[in-house]
Amino acid sequence: MNYKKFEIKNKIVFETPIDNYPPLVTLTSKHSTCKISLHGAHILSFKPNDKKDLLWLSSLAIYRQDKAIRGGIPICLPWFGGFDTPSHGFARISSWEIIESKNFDDEFLSITFRLKNDKFIADYYVEISTTLNIELKVKNISEDKFEFTQALHSYFNISDVKNTIIKGLENQNYIDSIDNNREKTQQGYIRIDKEIDRIYTNTNSQTLILDKGYKREIIISTKNSKSTVVWNPWIEKSSKMSDFDEGGYKKMLCIESANIGFEKIILQKGESHSLKVKISEKEISI
Ligand code: BG6
Repeated sequence: MNYKKFEIKNKIVFETPIDNYPPLVTLTSKHSTCKISLHGAHILSFKPNDKKDLLWLSSLAIYRQDKAIRGGIPICLPWFGGFDTPSHGFARISSWEIIESKNFDDEFLSITFRLKNDKFIADYYVEISTTLNIELKVKNISEDKFEFTQALHSYFNISDVKNTIIKGLENQNYIDSIDNNREKTQQGYIRIDKEIDRIYTNTNSQTLILDKGYKREIIISTKNSKSTVVWNPWIEKSSKMSDFDEGGYKKMLCIESANIGFEKIILQKGESHSLKVKISEKEISI
């Protein structure tokens, strides 16, 4: 594929830092920078100017065609979890094409990736300005109905998990994956001091990470995401992952905008579904 035609001088730039591996594209807007690998259309970094990255990326991440990158925003599609192999679907280990790039009055930059097969077309629109706006649009191009689950498996960059509180999921029901998938109800805010792996169902359109260490609030606003996954592998599980930084579990938190389980998406022939996520941050005084 000829990526060069999507370059915009000094704003959208491609490079191939790793041999035999898809290119990396860097978007530099007036307000922020964003790095995306074409392996999985995987956002690796989103950094508003003069701020810390909003996303966490493991320094031990493995950049290999058959492996998903540890950190950033892996796209889990067309299934979430171990429903089939590869785990979390093949989209995150596929090489995506690019179909469009745009510069809007120097305020916004956007790039659109595409993954196509005989069942569906997935278009992934990434726009940056002061915020990161993404849209994952899936269209059924087969003759039959098409069912799928999905997650934008975002790893957020936090000062220390002990300084953070997750807001917005109070009173929501969830499936506790580390307690035999028992159904429970969230009491109060979420504070993490051990492994957590939960699928919140019928979720609201806004989840917040309040980080007293970095004195900021990360705001995750969604449209058409009915499930929200909250994941932190904690000490034992993360130490078994060769691509996970030592102690990295303190510095990351996954809040995944998703549609999973009974909230799977069913598309009739020709129908589309759009999942939108906006990620922003706000300074807080404590
Ligand atoms: C989360 C799941 O979304 O992803 C966890 O809820 C899983 O159960 C985690 O361990 C990481 O998955 P992977 O395949 O990227 O190691």
